[in-house]
Amino acid sequence: MEKFNYSYPTRVYFGEGSAKEALSKELEKVGKKVMLAYGGGSIKRNGIYDEIAAILTQAGKEIVDFDGIMSNPTYSKVQAGAALARREKADFILAVGGGSVIDCCKVISAQAVLDGDIWALEYEKRQFPTAGIPMGAIVTASGTGAEMNAGAVITYEEKKWKGPIVGTAASFAVLDPEYTLTVPPMQVLSGAFDTLSHAMETYLGCSDQDNVSDDVALAVMRNTVVNMRRLLADINDLQARSNLMWDSAMAENGILKCGRLTDFQAHQIEHQLGAYTDCNHGQGLAVIHPAYYRHILKDAPEKFTRFAKIVFGADTAEDGVDALENFIKECGLPTKLGQLKSTVEITPEVLRQVADTCNIIKCNPRELGRDEIYEILMECL
Ligand code: NZQ
Ligand code: ZN
Repeated sequence: MEKFNYSYPTRVYFGEGSAKEALSKELEKVGKKVMLAYGGGSIKRNGIYDEIAAILTQAGKEIVDFDGIMSNPTYSKVQAGAALARREKADFILAVGGGSVIDCCKVISAQAVLDGDIWALEYEKRQFPTAGIPMGAIVTASGTGAEMNAGAVITYEEKKWKGPIVGTAASFAVLDPEYTLTVPPMQVLSGAFDTLSHAMETYLGCSDQDNVSDDVALAVMRNTVVNMRRLLADINDLQARSNLMWDSAMAENGILKCGRLTDFQAHQIEHQLGAYTDCNHGQGLAVIHPAYYRHILKDAPEKFTRFAKIVFGADTAEDGVDALENFIKECGLPTKLGQLKSTVEITPEVLRQVADTCNIIKCNPRELGRDEIYEILMECL
């Protein structure tokens, strides 16, 4: 095991009816003005907004709405949220949505109490936030595990960059699987694939032999695949959604990362692809993973073989990656870049720019060069 320290800042309320329980306990600790932040309107259509607003009103809170947080949230949306939070003197931020809403709120929380520009502080001065407006998260679409940490992924449009910004962790998170029942099937599967990717990417970073975090990661992967298959048979299977919701949280609450380094190279490539195309995160990963893994297969043969056997019941490392690709097809997820919904035509020139600007990880089975990343992307065309 590598040296590590671990602490966990978020209280989790899991299961049916958790929002009411969580809010009644947690809101007592916060001031009157609550900024209620959400996305493009799904929570208005499915009744979650009314349910939460009623609980807040009953608790004597004053609600300030911040809506329209888009998928792949932008830095300008963060700044608009921080300006509103400051102007309205919000005492608390309640993020209600998927990874995009939660990420945007984490950075709004930190930016709202800072004098300087948070991107410049983190990327130019290497200073990270130590305070923020307190926040909580109500998860309506699972997969990213964004509710379980302080890291956010934000698109800075002017810089053609999508990447991490450290914000504030939610002090509590509500995970009610019933809230996910209205999520469109393709988003449910894309989100679950993101969870699978988090566990795979963590597992494939460097670790010592028989590392317990590796074994837990394999269990999360296996369970994610089993429950995704249950959803393919019945998309409304609440037990499967419930398992996937906790898989998602487990993959990003830091437990799998204890005592080991991580890979996350597929994520770095996908994030930059997202900066250029605004594609769906889980779907971008589904396209990139098999091609990336065929490149590094020979650099971690034992790990890939164990992954193949435990997650897919396959015999060899190669069979494991084939099984992963077949599983992606079985789920109806995209396997080629041309199948992604994109704001631009995905050409070799665009892919060259993605390869030239994405972050490169050093603790994966083998560090990639930019030309090889371009090759991988071209194999996905
Ligand atoms: O915007 P609304 O109308 O709410 O619709 C959303 C959105 O269109 C919809 N949705 C959410 N809950 C719903 C629902 N529709 C019906 N019923 C509900 N109950 O789902 C769509 C996708 O939502 P979004 O939040 O964008 O998806 P996801 O949770 O996959 O989040 C993706 C973002 O998270 C980042 C990604 O890069 C991407 O920007 N990630 C964050 C991570 C983190 N902070 O730890 C880790 C991940 O690797 C990832 O990078
Ligand atoms: Zn992800």
